[in-house]
Amino acid sequence: MKTKFNTVLWILLLLAYQLSFAQAQQKTVDQRVDSVMRLMTLDEKIGQMNQYNDDRIATGPITVDNEKAKQIRNGQVGSLLNCVSTERTRKWQEIAMQSRLKIPLLFGQDVVHGYKTTFPIPLAEACSWDLDAITLSARIAATEASASGIHWTFAPMVDIARDPRWGRVMEGAGEDPYLGSMIAAARVKGFQGDNLGDVNSIMACAKHFAAYGAAIGGRDYNSVDMSDRLLWEVYLPPFKAAVDAGVATFMNSFNDLNGVPATGNKYLQRDILKGKWAFTGFVVSDWGSIGEMINHGNVKNEYEATLSAITAGCDMDMESRSYKNNLAQLVKDKKVPIDLIDDAVRRILQKKFELGLFDDPFRYCNPEREQKELNNPEHTKAAREIAARSIVLLKNENQLLPLSKSTKTIAFIGPLVKALKQNKGFWDVEVPGYDSNFIVSQWQGLVNKVGLKTKLLYAKGCNIEGNDRSGFAEAIKIAKKADVVILSIGERRDMSGEAKSRSNIDIPGVQEDLLKALLATGKPVVVLINAGRPLVFNYTADNATAILYTWWLGSEAGDAIADVIFGDYNPSAKLPITFPLSVGQIPIYYSHFNTGRPATSDNNRNYNSSYNDLSIFPKFAFGYGLSYTTFEYSNLKLSKNKMTPDEKIEVSLTVSNTGKYDGEEIVQLYLRDKVGSIARPVKELKDFKKIALKAGESKPITFTIDKEKLSFYNQQLQWVAEPGDFDLMIGASSENIRLRDSFELL
Ligand code: BGC
Repeated sequence: MKTKFNTVLWILLLLAYQLSFAQAQQKTVDQRVDSVMRLMTLDEKIGQMNQYNDDRIATGPITVDNEKAKQIRNGQVGSLLNCVSTERTRKWQEIAMQSRLKIPLLFGQDVVHGYKTTFPIPLAEACSWDLDAITLSARIAATEASASGIHWTFAPMVDIARDPRWGRVMEGAGEDPYLGSMIAAARVKGFQGDNLGDVNSIMACAKHFAAYGAAIGGRDYNSVDMSDRLLWEVYLPPFKAAVDAGVATFMNSFNDLNGVPATGNKYLQRDILKGKWAFTGFVVSDWGSIGEMINHGNVKNEYEATLSAITAGCDMDMESRSYKNNLAQLVKDKKVPIDLIDDAVRRILQKKFELGLFDDPFRYCNPEREQKELNNPEHTKAAREIAARSIVLLKNENQLLPLSKSTKTIAFIGPLVKALKQNKGFWDVEVPGYDSNFIVSQWQGLVNKVGLKTKLLYAKGCNIEGNDRSGFAEAIKIAKKADVVILSIGERRDMSGEAKSRSNIDIPGVQEDLLKALLATGKPVVVLINAGRPLVFNYTADNATAILYTWWLGSEAGDAIADVIFGDYNPSAKLPITFPLSVGQIPIYYSHFNTGRPATSDNNRNYNSSYNDLSIFPKFAFGYGLSYTTFEYSNLKLSKNKMTPDEKIEVSLTVSNTGKYDGEEIVQLYLRDKVGSIARPVKELKDFKKIALKAGESKPITFTIDKEKLSFYNQQLQWVAEPGDFDLMIGASSENIRLRDSFELL
């Protein structure tokens, strides 16, 4: 008893010590920031709020400016973006060290899915529902990027996206606020590590605040018109999760929200983010978005745009030069109180201190570390594993997959088979000194996997786009010689990403015609679909023998695909976004309302909420994905069927692997609040578990239902759980509900 008491006492003392240490550290940072700020002129303060693009690569419209070095020397620049490698960052930092106050520059970069080692695009990685794997991939990206001079990534993008026409759907975690929030937190933790002061940590940036993913018609940069309820319930939660996970920075957004550009939106940035959520980091604009408020038609000129952005809480100007050109005058004209500028500068300097840059501005510029980390075999291994975990098995007729490693002849066909760089997808980083040779092509992956006895045949068949069928004959010829055909088709990597919205999201060109021709040989065909978004591919879905949705898997794509094709990894991924049957269904998402005239089947279209010419059901539902094995769910038990708001219900069930292969299953828990003062969706994901089961093995799993899981925003935007009945559904996808029960909140 006494020993136990002593242990508790020790733990409490330790916690108190840690707390006071952290407080003392924070105090020191604050004091150090103050001591620098006391020395700063207004121009130098404004300089900290100004961010420029380096001259080599641009991720937005370029403003030619030959005076960057001079301005840095004058203390007029606080940060650079698109500046990578220890050599390049050192060069600029040395110039910053010639400035009067020697305030170090921050180097920001879109490290979105890996740095040199490239991981699956974020939407693909989200298919793993594997939070540890997602954290690890961000951790490795941070380790490499920080070794290459970068302090700050413009990631994660946590925009909920329900429109696959929008090219940037590839950058996020899909359509669901619960899954999106878990993944947002996992990515922030991965990038930032245990402590921003560690030399392998980089600042994360939750973007784009807010609602950018709901651009009307899926057209990039378009307006967003949204109710407060939808904003709070669906679009804001991943941002809040990022704040709770300690994200250091936020980026605002190109879109207007209900007529007010996000960049000049005080409600979003000052009231919600810095007010209600007490966010202590800083907010950077999106590329040029301060100046773009003139085009939105909310301000007359740059002067007004600057006033609007700083008042709304935007601390740093990326590339529009509005702050640099107008802030001093606005202070002089008494339109902007100096307190607003001091607050922004304090937030920025705090981060520079926390990163340790004032102690050593070159601490991220160590070429030996750069060499070592960029060639770390552990990173390659993790990228391969995570890529395999991101591949979604959509179809597997006659259990064609996994293929046997002793298959005699395989015809590997398609425009993406031998591609290297395509596998990286959009938002890769061009790291100087590393060309594409380190990327494992899909062809190479297969070569690495099969033994000498297997004959691999190759034909390109066709291009990604265009009508040229001249390669079909060769493809058919080799298909006829093979036991099985693997066909790799899809988009080009730059068909999704920023400014890559498409109105037609079919598989481009004649690629599906090529599939048709290959199927006519009577050979079984495994189709690999490479894409940055859910595509519409009904012919393929209905006719291919097996389909793996491989998205863009990164630098280890080839090996990961081969691991899955031959069963060294049993696919476990599930879709984090609904795949439409046709663009006509967009936006389509699983957590819709029931409506007053719900349609439940395609057979009855009489005065109910359906289409006359199209099914109401998606092609592939949210949460869907197959395995080489099968899982059974049984034995659902609730610890009770009534709970008060202070109580909890334990939900338990058994999951059994009833097939021949070891595998992993993502068990999904959905709730439906039957009656609410605001209509509630037909289903909402509230929890999930990913479990590994050996063939024949069963495991119990449990979930806990508490008041939080039952809450929603009511009409007054209060977060409440209303008493009443709830349906509980345990599913292998949002459509495939295996077990049901119900309970009541008293
Ligand atoms: C994008 C941001 C990105 C920035 C810098 C903008 O065009 O919207 O997501 O971080 O460019 O590259």
